[in-house]
This record gives sequence, C-alpha cells and structure tokens, in this order.
Amino acid sequence: MSKSNRVSRRSFLQTTGAVAATATVATGLSAKSYGQVIGANERIGVGLIGAGIIAQAHMSAFNVLRKRNNLEPVVVADCWETRAKKGAKKLKLPESRALTDYRKVIDHKDVDYVTIATPEHQHARMILETLAAGKPLYTEKPMTHTLPEAQAVVKKQKETGLAVQVGVQGMSDDSYESAGQAIREGLLGRVVQAQIEYVRCYSKRNGPWRVPGLDENMPKPDDLNWDAWLGHAPKVAWNPHHYFEWRNYAAYSGGICTDLFIHRITRIMKACDLLYPRRVVGMGGIWQWPDGRDLPDNFEMICEYPRGMTVYVLGTMSNKTGIDHLIRGHDGTLQFTPAGWIAKDKDGKVLAEHKKTGAEDIVLHHTNFHNHLRKGEPLNCPAPLGLAGVAAVCMANESWRTGRMMAWDTENEKMVPADTLAFNPYPEKNA
Ligand SMILES: NC(=O)c1ccc[n+]([C@@H]2O[C@H](COP(=O)([O-])OP(=O)(O)OC[C@H]3O[C@@H](n4cnc5c(N)ncnc54)[C@H](O)[C@@H]3O)[C@@H](O)[C@H]2O)c1
Repeated sequence: MSKSNRVSRRSFLQTTGAVAATATVATGLSAKSYGQVIGANERIGVGLIGAGIIAQAHMSAFNVLRKRNNLEPVVVADCWETRAKKGAKKLKLPESRALTDYRKVIDHKDVDYVTIATPEHQHARMILETLAAGKPLYTEKPMTHTLPEAQAVVKKQKETGLAVQVGVQGMSDDSYESAGQAIREGLLGRVVQAQIEYVRCYSKRNGPWRVPGLDENMPKPDDLNWDAWLGHAPKVAWNPHHYFEWRNYAAYSGGICTDLFIHRITRIMKACDLLYPRRVVGMGGIWQWPDGRDLPDNFEMICEYPRGMTVYVLGTMSNKTGIDHLIRGHDGTLQFTPAGWIAKDKDGKVLAEHKKTGAEDIVLHHTNFHNHLRKGEPLNCPAPLGLAGVAAVCMANESWRTGRMMAWDTENEKMVPADTLAFNPYPEKNA
C-alpha cells in the first residue's frame, strides 16, 4: 500500500470519527460512516503494545489473519526489550520493528489500529492516547482499572467516534446477543435474576497467579524499563512479584473481579441490557493464601440493577465446583451451555434453543473488529459494554475493601456507599 493511501485513509478515520460522534451508543459508530473507512481489499496495519502472556495469543491470531483478513502486523512494543524482540520474531518482523516506547506504536504511520495487551493499570492512558491520535483500537479486558477511567474512555470514544473493541472475546460467541434478543422479545417474561461463576482450584503451595519457583531475589533485567511498567502506579522498587504476578496487587489489578468476573458478567450484561448497577455488594477475603497479596483469593458478588434484577457471581479459587449459568424470568429459565443456550418453562418444557456460532476466540474477536472497520459490522464488545463490566467489578471490589454496600449515584455519575443515598424499597408506592 502506498504511503499516500495510508495517510489519506488515516485522515478519513479521524474525520469520520468526528461525524460518527453522534452515532449509536452500542458501537459509537454508524455502519454507514465506518463502512467506507477501510476498503475490502486494503491491508489493515496493526501495532501491538505489550508482548507478555496474552500477547502470544494475539500474535498467533495476527499470523493467522495475515492472509485471511489481509492484516499486516507492523510493530510490537514492550518495556522489556527482550520481550519486544521475541514478539517481533514471532510476528516475522525485523528487529527494528521491536520497540520499547509504546507511543511509537500509536504514532507509527503504518499502524491503522492498536492492540493493547498490557497489565490493566496501563490500559486507560494507552486507550486515551490512541484515540487522541485518531486511531481505533482493540484493548484487552478489563477496559480500564478504575471506573472513572472507563467513563473517560467512553466519553473520548463518543467524541472521536473511533472504534474501541474490548477484549472480552467471549462476546464473539453469539449466544449472548441471541439470548438478549430472545429476552427482549419476552421469552422469559419478567427477568428477575441471573447467576454465573468463575471457579478454579489452585494448588496449596501456589495460590492464584503465583508463578511456581519465582526467584524473589531475581534482579531487574537490564533492558526492562521498570518506571515505564509502573506508569502512574505508586513508585516502588523493582519487585519480581509485582512484575510477574501483578494480578495479586490492587495498584495494578482488581484481582478475581476484574480479571475473571469480567468475562462472565459481561455475558449477562449483554443478554440483559445492563449498564450501571443500582447497588453492589462484594464479599471474600485472603483466606487460603496469605502470601503478601492485597486482593482476595476467594470472592463473590451480587449486583442489583435498576431494571429490577439481581446478578450473582461466584468465584472460588480453592474449589472448582461450579454452578449453572442461568437467567431466571417469571415464564422460564435460560441456561447457557457449551453448545449455546436452552430455555425451559417451570415444567421443563423447552421454550427455545440456540446453537451458537462463533466462540470465545481472539481470532474471531479481531475479525469482528476488522469487519467493523471495513463494513460497519457492529462491534461485539464496544466501549459502553466495557464500561458496564468495569462498573460492576469496581463497585464489588470497593464494597469488599470498605465493608459497605456500594450504590450508583445517577446524579453525580459515581459510586458511593449505599447508605449515603436515599433508598426507596417501595418505588410502586410513590409512583
Ligand atoms: N482475554 C483474555 O482471555 C486474557 C487472558 C490473559 C490476560 N488478559 C489481559 O491481557 C492483559 C495483559 O495480561 P498478560 O497476562 O499478558 O500480562 P503480562 O504481564 O504477561 O504481559 C504484559 C506485558 O506488557 C508489558 N508492559 C507493561 N507496561 C508497559 C508499557 N508501559 N509499555 C510497553 N509494554 C508494557 C510488560 O512488560 C509485559 O510484557 C491484561 O489486561 C489481562 O487482563 C486477557
């Protein structure tokens, strides 16, 4: 592709973004405006920020999609140069395409969209800087570390109209969209409750996200920029536990909630059209692995939504016994299964069934993004859905941390302790 083609396309992305700022909340884009952005035969250039664990899956996906979707991996950055170089090798790029400064990925002339695969405390600034540079992006989940950051991302996304795909790749399994449609059409009657889980059983010795055999005294690799890794997190000395096991520390992660529940609760949100919860309670603790972590090793949460339903999420890390993934309505129960979903009435009569297409698959999730850029296909996990997930999990963590129930203050658009807001348990009496 000639340079001029790329440049003109990119300016069009920005112009189109501004035009599309008033487009649908679901995608932040209108199919018409975005449909013209990248032609079917034009190559899409992708730049990757972060070359750690999940980045391996993105790189494998890019290699698959080179031919299939006419995708061109352009550059890869990691603040640990060794990882950036390994990434470039995996992407069959020359070493000169291995960078350490992520801003150079965003600004690279041949990068049409950015994929962000860094720890969660880094997401917000990388997303905002990418959007400010006029480029769409795919970011790993959770969309951001904090709730105000997620609100800032949605605001910026709306202003620019640029596409943001959140990496909850389970959204590229169409079961949740399809369940949402069936529920909107009244299949379950009034929906009042949902339950879902993420359970694991870690070994007695190594709790959640501990790296077996990690050497506490490991010196910082010379080519790792620790300050860049910390970003805006509190400045602390090099610590291999923080670098390799960041999910156990609140400065970088929300632990079970933001790392695992986000995959699950987003499914319920899509199926039940949920955004901000009304009230949330999170409970759990450091019960089995008091090993220096500052986030719970077992956790549960309940969210109550203004449409009049509760969502329960179970998350034991000490026991893998799960529960069915269900949505309960007055006229029936919808159960998600490995094949899709099935809904039955109280007598067990099948009301409807759905055989899924797609899967929880990063290749499909990037493909959906490419189809969005080329043809205006709706995004499977747009920024508002990313925000909905972050709202629930951040409120649950805050509830756990403070020992209080959290509520959404609609007037001031922020979470507050529930007992500081007037609460009316009998809305029908005052209607
Ligand atoms: N979708 C999924 O199923 C899935 C699975 C695993 C991880 N994730 C998500 O992917 C993200 C990364 O997780 P991971 O397990 O790959 O973490 P990781 O620690 O293995 O990799 C992150 C990489 O980012 C690099 N990095 C950090 N700050 C940087 C900066 N300022 N500039 C450049 N590089 C920087 C680190 O050096 C590291 O190599 C997280 O948000 C995580 O929640 C998603």
